[in-house]
Amino acid sequence: MSVRLQGETVLLRPFREPEAATLWDRESTDRGDFEVPWPDDEVSRERVLARVAASGSWRDQHVLDLGIETNGELIGDVQARHCNLTTPPGLFELGIGLFAGTRGRGYGTEALTLITRHLFEDEGAHRVQLGTDTENTAMRRAAEKAGFRLEGIMRGFWPSPDGAPRDYALYARTRADHEGRGREGD
Ligand SMILES: CC(C)(COP(=O)(O)OP(=O)(O)OC[C@H]1O[C@@H](n2cnc3c(N)ncnc32)[C@H](O)[C@@H]1OP(=O)(O)O)[C@@H](O)C(=O)NCCC(=O)NCCS
Repeated sequence: MSVRLQGETVLLRPFREPEAATLWDRESTDRGDFEVPWPDDEVSRERVLARVAASGSWRDQHVLDLGIETNGELIGDVQARHCNLTTPPGLFELGIGLFAGTRGRGYGTEALTLITRHLFEDEGAHRVQLGTDTENTAMRRAAEKAGFRLEGIMRGFWPSPDGAPRDYALYARTRADHEGRGREGD
């Protein structure tokens, strides 16, 4: 069954087929300085189409893609990932992007809160983590407001199109945090 998560202002739900074009639109999905844009080629297009088609359920048992909607409009996407080959069971990672023009209104914080709660309560997560550019203040604050704690800096983590790889801040929320048992220094 497809995942649908309703919050106060946002709904996380599967994409609709025509929304592939919106997701492909570089202007609206521009992630600014913080991500290397995917190449404008057929392989990338196929990947977007595959994400849209499989959204709402765990694709290849590794990836859950959901659209973020508010007031009936798609405003971005959130992705949960886990890989049993390279990480322990119950460890999930998040990614998120809101379209330009919809940022800074609390939607990102609410979307992170909803997907994280789903992973703990319905998917058996013991830890949910995310990384972001150390200079991505919006993402860092949204993560903190959604209950994630800073664990450290991953040096030279993300390739940069115009120079040395960027440092990323690693944030995580554990099951103990989620259940109110997290202690300082855990
Ligand atoms: C990162 C992102 C998901 C955050 O979601 P959002 O809806 O814009 O953020 P929120 O409105 O929930 O704000 C969360 C906090 O960040 C702050 N914030 C938001 N935009 C900001 C900005 N451009 N600069 C500094 N702080 C900002 C808010 O003020 C708020 O903090 P506060 O309550 O202490 O004031 C969204 O901005 C986005 O999609 N950005 C582009 C893509 C991206 O960077 N994705 C993450 C890649 S790892």
